[in-house]
Amino acid sequence: MGCSERPKGAILLGLLLLTLAEIVVGRFVVEKNSLRVLSPDSIKGTHDSAIGNFGIPQYGGRMGGTVVYPRDNRKGCKSFDDSGISFKAKAGALPNFVLVDRGDCFFALKVWNAQNAGAAAVLVADDLDEPLITMDSPEEDGASARYIANITIPSALIDKSFGEKLKKAISEGDMVNVNLDWREAVPHPDDRVEYELWTNSNDECGVKCDMLMEFLKDFKGAAQVLEKGGYTQFTPHYITWYCPQAFTISKQCKSQCLNHGRYCAPDPEQDFSTGYEGKDVVLENLRQLCVFRVANETKKPWVWWDYVTDFQIRCPMKEKKYNKECAEQVINSLGLDLKKIEKCMGDPEADSDNPVLKEEQDAQIGKGSRGDVTILPTLVVNNRQYRGKLEKGAVLKAICAGFEETTEPSVCLGGDVETNECLENNGGCWQDKAANITACKDTFRGRVCECPVVNGVQFKGDGYRSCVASGPGRCRINNGGCWHESRNGVAFSACVDNEEGKCTCPPGFKGDGVNSCEDIDECKQKKACQCPECSCKNTWGSYECTCGGDLLYIRDHDTCISKTTEVKSAWTAVWIILIALALAAGGAYVVYKRRLRSYMDSEIRAIMAQYMPLDSQNEVPNHVDEDRA
Ligand SMILES: *[C@@H]1O[C@H](CO)[C@@H](O)[C@H](O)[C@H]1NC(C)=O
Ligand SMILES: *[C@@H]1O[C@H](CO)[C@@H](O)[C@H](O)[C@H]1NC(C)=O
Ligand SMILES: *[C@@H]1O[C@H](CO)[C@@H](O)[C@H](O)[C@H]1NC(C)=O
Repeated sequence: MGCSERPKGAILLGLLLLTLAEIVVGRFVVEKNSLRVLSPDSIKGTHDSAIGNFGIPQYGGRMGGTVVYPRDNRKGCKSFDDSGISFKAKAGALPNFVLVDRGDCFFALKVWNAQNAGAAAVLVADDLDEPLITMDSPEEDGASARYIANITIPSALIDKSFGEKLKKAISEGDMVNVNLDWREAVPHPDDRVEYELWTNSNDECGVKCDMLMEFLKDFKGAAQVLEKGGYTQFTPHYITWYCPQAFTISKQCKSQCLNHGRYCAPDPEQDFSTGYEGKDVVLENLRQLCVFRVANETKKPWVWWDYVTDFQIRCPMKEKKYNKECAEQVINSLGLDLKKIEKCMGDPEADSDNPVLKEEQDAQIGKGSRGDVTILPTLVVNNRQYRGKLEKGAVLKAICAGFEETTEPSVCLGGDVETNECLENNGGCWQDKAANITACKDTFRGRVCECPVVNGVQFKGDGYRSCVASGPGRCRINNGGCWHESRNGVAFSACVDNEEGKCTCPPGFKGDGVNSCEDIDECKQKKACQCPECSCKNTWGSYECTCGGDLLYIRDHDTCISKTTEVKSAWTAVWIILIALALAAGGAYVVYKRRLRSYMDSEIRAIMAQYMPLDSQNEVPNHVDEDRA
């Protein structure tokens, strides 16, 4: 029985993919720019070309160049550098647009090779007679992901017959000049741009997720400036899928979907048994939608950008913080109404439609000039899908191309408009109002919450809820966040410089060290001064102990001792020393006397020997013997 689970999972996955595939066949609109041939006269005219979904198209602008068709490596699948070919334009000449043939390798690789050889743009000639298609980036396979992010030139696909005409003109020695024009790629009817981003809260899907997260962070500043100025109306969207009817009660559908199989997301790890489930992702997506709705109701729709970027930093899957609790902390720090958001989210277990998610599913289907949304992430500007790299500069160009001429905000004309997001609600970052210290820093990319360095002292923490002074000198700053107090010129502090991040009440106190340290009553607690002769008096942070009668208190041993015993024993010591000295002197005198006497004896005998007969010569050695005895 147990082994039937796996195949069922596979079938289910297949069905999910099938529903997805159906959407793909639906209506995928190929976004176009125009390509105008200026010379030779024989092929002059305007043609459509399809904008590649990587690189940086020049939305709102145009670019002129000379078409070059390489002699070999015509598909551009190999590096041009290897054969020593360079497409770099000579000074004063028009830039070179490299024409390559479709086939044999990824579109993106052809463009990458041409860019490396100095091409300014790439035209790919289709090898089939068919309507134009969108050149998409390959599913990231590691190797290609590394270069796709670095493609900065624009690219376009042209149809087979137009390609043949270009090649023929070049082979006949004509100079082929063309203009690539993106000015009409985005409709620009009025002075407000409506744009939407189809996004996802899943932060662990590899290269694509990393790129999306990076884009959200990068673009936040510009998005908020545009929205606050009333120049744009932004709406975030989230894609969900539904579980096929027959499987709604299966374990898999239950773990990947909300509302009984109605709204599903793929499992983040693509493993149904571990980690986060698709359900967790849908739930967070729903929360982000509701954050937008509630923020939009209070006329501050741009707070959504703060929420998603903060959530991504504070609640990543990697750290197992991708959950409700963490999300609610972010909501609170941004001052959003949590109750309203909960109400908007409704009951995820209910066997009925969720109005918010239902609306999203309906919106996935294309309307008017916009095709169905099938790729994540997708940016839609004035109801046209954006093509190209999801990168701040390129996206800003596309949005700016959506304003009617002369109505574009200054952010489109010059550098970025600077605003200080820290001025409002401290940007949702940590702050110590009393000490005038904040973790909010205004930057070019919007605000960041980062613990500061104050007077050379580094603060550490998450920057949102806490920052604590750390390292040398930390007690100088607001006493390291610890308790401190002084009374009658005596001061105590619970901060110790080398005890990182800790507050410890000093000896004689007890408490948490942060909010309070209470004096310990050493007398009542019978901690000290307990000998029968002692009398104890508590003081703030310490105690005083005195001994009755003639006794003396010794603090180290917490005991009373007699003062007189002390004196007696001192005199004894003095006497012992004196006697010892006297004995030593006496001993020395005796030795001296003996030495002196034996010396005089031998002198006298030596003198007398001079008057004695020779036979008494033995006297001297004997003398020595006697001395030895
Ligand atoms: C892409 O650019 C980054 C820095 O801009 C560089 O570190 C990296 O090596 C480049 N990748 C490739 C494949 O050239
Ligand atoms: C956001 O608010 C505006 C009006 O303030 C409204 O037109 C728009 O539909 C709202 N968007 C969403 C998604 O509720
Ligand atoms: C807080 O510090 C900033 C600079 O660090 C200063 O501009 C501001 O006036 C200070 N505010 C108060 C209330 O001291």
